[in-house]
Amino acid sequence: MSDQINPLLTEQLDALLYEETNLVANLANASALLKQTLTDINWAGFYLYQPASDDLILGPFQGNVACVHIENGHGVCGTALATQDTQLVPDVHAFAGHIACDSASNSEIVVPLTLADGTKLGVLDIDSPIKGRFTTDDQAVLEEFARVLLKHIDKV
Ligand code: SME
Repeated sequence: MSDQINPLLTEQLDALLYEETNLVANLANASALLKQTLTDINWAGFYLYQPASDDLILGPFQGNVACVHIENGHGVCGTALATQDTQLVPDVHAFAGHIACDSASNSEIVVPLTLADGTKLGVLDIDSPIKGRFTTDDQAVLEEFARVLLKHIDKV
């Protein structure tokens, strides 16, 4: 059984990003914090929305090299973007259209990131080699993590 994600993670993020609003720096440190803190994960990072092409492009992450472009509505990430709902996927092999970037991934959670003015920033994506790694409690912590992160990003 994997460790449950500690709710204090969001306070760590808040402290880590204190008085910094640079997008790349904050996403880079947020992905590093996730990768070094969470157990049983193999990838943590961001895909950023590109309105001109209506797709996602790879952003700061920790883990193996990953696919660069994901179309809106495709895969777990594109579904989170299109629906604006967190996608909690206990078994990625059972998710129609899942995009396999790292063959080690067996479960995944993707949280949409949208600024207060409605601007779509992209998604937070975390992958695990363990099926069923993420719980609904983890989802609540990661959605709070996303809220804190967005507080430290004032424009794109
Ligand atoms: N599996 C994702 C693609 C991104 S990788 O997991 C890093 C998806 O289906 O959207």
